[in-house]
Amino acid sequence: MRSATLVIVAIAALIAAGCVHTAGAAGPTYGLGRPADPAEIAALDIDVSPDGTGLPDGRGDAVDGAQTFAAACARCHGAAVRLDPQRWPYATTLFDYVRRAMPPDRSTRLRPNEVYAITAYELAVNGVIARGDVLDRTSLPRVTMPGLKAFFTPP
Ligand code: HEC
Repeated sequence: MRSATLVIVAIAALIAAGCVHTAGAAGPTYGLGRPADPAEIAALDIDVSPDGTGLPDGRGDAVDGAQTFAAACARCHGAAVRLDPQRWPYATTLFDYVRRAMPPDRSTRLRPNEVYAITAYELAVNGVIARGDVLDRTSLPRVTMPGLKAFFTPP
């Protein structure tokens, strides 16, 4: 009996010691990595919501956009991208896609003014806005895409 009690006490002590050890330790460190720099996070944190949340400062129109498109996009897309209305419910999504994904080989890093201008050019060529319309963080979310009705709105 006595030795059984001793064994139980010993096991309890071991468990308690384990708990203390676990609670007290910050975990092993491996000397890898470093804290993320806020500027690096900001450079990656560029997603734009359908309502325009996340749009950067800047502005552009189709005239400027035609030039940038010719320089950065035409070698793969020709004169313009024909936008399938079924794929683009929001103009903000087009902006977001171009900014994050084009050109895919990263041969050009587009500045916000250039993305606004290219978006204006694409929307003008596809008959969604007029050639003189200026897009910025206020006007871009107000553009109604012709395909929006084909999408279900969330309940
Ligand atoms: C190196 C070739 C290349 C360049 C340069 C390039 N793109 Fe693309 N682009 C692609 C490819 C490939 C796809 C199809 C990607 C997919 O479907 O996943 C695409 C898709 C797109 C789409 C979607 C098309 C659709 O059918 O809805 C748009 C819009 C677009 N690109 C715009 C641009 C713009 C604007 C530029 C210039 C800033 C650009 N691209 C530069 C290769 C390129």
